Amino acid sequence: FFNNVPLAPPDPIFHLTASYEKDTTPKRINLGVGAYRDDMGQPWVLPVVRKARQLLLEDPALTHEYLPIAGLPALRDASIRLILGKDSPAIREKRTIAIQTISGTGANTLGAAFLAQFHPVRTVLVSNPTWVNHKGIFGNAGFDVKEYTYFDSKTLGLDLEGMLSSLNSAPEGSVIILHACAHNPTGVDPTQEQWIKIADVMEAKGHFPLFDCAYQGFASGDLDKDAWAVRYFVHDRKLECFIAQSYAKNFGLYGERCGALTVVTQTSDLADRCLSQLSKIARVNYSNPPAFGARIVSRVLNDPELYTTWTNDLRTMSGRIIQMRTLLREHLIKLGTPGNWDHITRQIGMFSFTGLKPAQVSLLQSKYHIYMTSNGRVSMAGLNTNNVEYMAKAVDDVVRS
Ligand code: LMR
Repeated sequence: FFNNVPLAPPDPIFHLTASYEKDTTPKRINLGVGAYRDDMGQPWVLPVVRKARQLLLEDPALTHEYLPIAGLPALRDASIRLILGKDSPAIREKRTIAIQTISGTGANTLGAAFLAQFHPVRTVLVSNPTWVNHKGIFGNAGFDVKEYTYFDSKTLGLDLEGMLSSLNSAPEGSVIILHACAHNPTGVDPTQEQWIKIADVMEAKGHFPLFDCAYQGFASGDLDKDAWAVRYFVHDRKLECFIAQSYAKNFGLYGERCGALTVVTQTSDLADRCLSQLSKIARVNYSNPPAFGARIVSRVLNDPELYTTWTNDLRTMSGRIIQMRTLLREHLIKLGTPGNWDHITRQIGMFSFTGLKPAQVSLLQSKYHIYMTSNGRVSMAGLNTNNVEYMAKAVDDVVRS
């Protein structure tokens, strides 16, 4: 029967990494996958992760037993505090639970499986554009996946009117995926005033928000500020929601697959019911989540001293990315590259949505060995003081050709 199995297309993000790794040109640059690199272009193990890892390895009580199905209790509690704030009324009222997940993808997948089973409406709306995996995950779970207007290609900013109008015309009670901060791929976030208007429509239409929060700490460099939208929905508007949290980026623990799905409901009984059902889905899919990354994250989140070190590490990462935005824009201005490049410094988080067209992206790859997704998304962390000028000159050339 294998004859009936067609070849699936490669993943657009990880296929780029594979092509980059095959490229032997010294000048090659990988601006594809959203993974932080230091100024030497190398993966960065956060100093706080080194420290927590060391402490774990020195602990004679460390074993490799199964974690509970729902994950490490101390990590789950800390994940809720991280996103909702330690003084959250929802935590006090015990109407929030978290389940540990296989990073952000796992949090979305578990959320999608749960919603497919229990949510009355099988329509999900994702931003146009969005992280490529959202559509796959919700499509696989049996949802009708639609888009809401988000990015305005003329202003290279948010099309709020378009977004509100899409949300308004979606079927009542749809699932809406919102990016909590540092929107992937555009780097364009709503302002607080805009979030209030978004919440108005969400509430009026009875839509269910799933916040994808893969970059807390990367947007403003401040973990609390980056949680503003989620906290506003939960505390000020008393809305129920899912929050898919990833520790891949903000801890640099990409391969350890650590994350959480936090659920906020109206009562403590409902929260417990949700946890029981999510645990049931986890059990049949992977039984128990991976332990090592979870132990590292939990250690840091629950230790005030390590937590402070972590916030410094986050500032190191977000600060270097901001510096690269500034340098890239300066080089383009110096070269007189046609177009306006202000959006590079206006956008936030790990990505810049450059506005480069697929043909230009393809030329950057074939002529300059610079790899980025065809939608013109640049992972800013792939730039450093040694390659940013080369990048600017390459962009200048392809924009003129
Ligand atoms: C990205 O968008 O590059 C990352 O979130 C990696 C991934 O899983 O796609």
